Formats: sequence, structure tokens, C-alpha cells
Amino acid sequence: MWTESSEVAWNKRYGEEAPRIDPVHAQFMLHRSVRHFAEDLLSKETVQSLIACAQSASTSSNLQLYSIISVADPGRRAQLAELCANQAHVLRAPLFLAFFADHYRVKQAGTAVGEQCSGLDYNEFYTMAVIDASLAAERLVCAAEASGLGVCYIGALRNNPQGVADFFELPPGVVGLFGLCVGVPAINKDASLKPRIGQSSVYFEEKYRSSGLGDYDLRMSNFYDQEGMKGDVTWSMRSGRRVGESFLTGREALLPFLHKQGMDSR
Ligand SMILES: Cc1cc2nc3c(=O)[nH]c(=O)nc-3n(C[C@H](O)[C@H](O)[C@H](O)COP(=O)(O)O)c2cc1C
Repeated sequence: MWTESSEVAWNKRYGEEAPRIDPVHAQFMLHRSVRHFAEDLLSKETVQSLIACAQSASTSSNLQLYSIISVADPGRRAQLAELCANQAHVLRAPLFLAFFADHYRVKQAGTAVGEQCSGLDYNEFYTMAVIDASLAAERLVCAAEASGLGVCYIGALRNNPQGVADFFELPPGVVGLFGLCVGVPAINKDASLKPRIGQSSVYFEEKYRSSGLGDYDLRMSNFYDQEGMKGDVTWSMRSGRRVGESFLTGREALLPFLHKQGMDSR
């Protein structure tokens, strides 16, 4: 789908010359979020095999603590886009998948055979469900991208946890985590490969080492400039603001909602 060589991809990620890269690994470095799609719908078989890829991910103790729901009906998609901060790609993506942490299924199964399942309200099992869902999603993403599709995750699915629960008619023990837009990338809308923090700031051997950001602020300012965004703003400035309380956009309701769903209470 994307044509950058591994050398170019490495250079765009890290702003430095590439080492020798396994050509298979190089394919995985070409990811970028796609927010403009061609109109091609995905066949039922493609969706089925993408879900099989997701379900083939590792899962803690084989508990499979997640569910996935697709939304195709145009009226419902418009409602969902509204719940997700009115993002145009939520409305327009050929396939939209919502991912959920799901304790309901295992609780049904366990109680049917006489178990209490009382551990499920510990944070451990919520964390486990979030990890399981994320691993499944990212395996689906790798498969989709390898077959020429593009994706964009939608964290805004958590902006209105109760609204999302009502929309999907969620039972107790289920909570929306994120959405995923999937489709054939539009050819006339280039999606750029975004720089990442240098490896020496993210990957350590033996012990944690706080090593700052290196030249990342500068590389991201250049990237913002290239993309027609404000180049005088650095990654530190954007990200510092992004993790402030004013950017919670409704997600401060998540913990009380989790408690209401009988999750993450101890
Ligand atoms: C869990 C998660 C939630 C995200 N939510 C949104 C979203 O609501 N809208 C959006 O346009 N992009 C969203 N993104 C995409 C990120 O902004 C994007 O991955 C990041 O800026 C890095 O860019 P890249 O994917 O092009 O490399 C999300 C990504 C993740 C992993």
C-alpha cells in the first residue's frame, strides 16, 4: 500500500540513517493513520478473516475478555459519529469496529457452572480485558495493513461511556474502549508517516533510564510545519497540554461508569 523504502521509513521515524533492516520488519514500519477512504466496501469474507486475525492474538489465560461490534447502518453510523466527537472518518469509513472490554461472557459461563467469578471486579481483570482487546485490535490492524487497507483508531469512543453503552445496549461488565475505522485508503489523500521518539529514549537495557527526548521536539516541529500545522509548537507543548484536565472531553466519567458496570472497583 505504501511505497517508502525501509531506509526512507526509518529516516522519517527517527531522523537518522537506517541500519540494516529485515524487509519483513520494514513492512511494519510503514503504518500511518488513514482518515480518508475510497468508497469500496469490504466483503463479508474480508471482515470475517480480519476478525479471525484479531482473535488469533495472544489472550491472557485464554479468557478472551473482549468483544467487537461493527456498525454499518448509515443512520446508526451518524449517531455513533456524533458520540465520537463528530469525526468525519467515523461517519465515512467503509468498516467501523468498536472494541469492548467484556467480563459479561466469562461471568455468564462461570456462574452457569457454579462459580462466583468475584475476582472480576478487581482492577487486574479490567486491565487484562484492556490488554486483550488492544492486542486483538492491533493484530487485526497489522493484517489489514498487510493486505493494503488503512486504519484509524478512535479513542473518542470513550467520550461518552453511558451514551455508548446505550447505543450498543451493553450488559453489565462491558465497556467501550476504542473504535477502529478500516478501509481502502483514498489515493488522492496522502497520509504521512509520523516521527517517533528516538529509541534511546524509549528502549533501555536492564534498567529504566530517564534520557529525555533528544531531538524529538525539533523533528516534530518540522513535521507539523510540513503538514501545515503550527510548526512553532513542539511535541512537549502539545502533549503536555493534551494530558491536562481540559482535554478529558467527557472521559472523566469513565471510572464512575466502570464502577456502575461492576468493573475496576477494587
Ligand atoms: C487508542 C487510540 C485512540 C486514537 N483515537 C483517535 C481518534 O479519536 N481520532 C483520530 O483521528 N485518531 C486517533 N488515534 C490515532 C493517533 O492520533 C495516531 O495513531 C498518532 O497520532 C500517531 O500517528 P500515526 O498512527 O499516523 O503514526 C488514536 C490512536 C490510538 C492508538
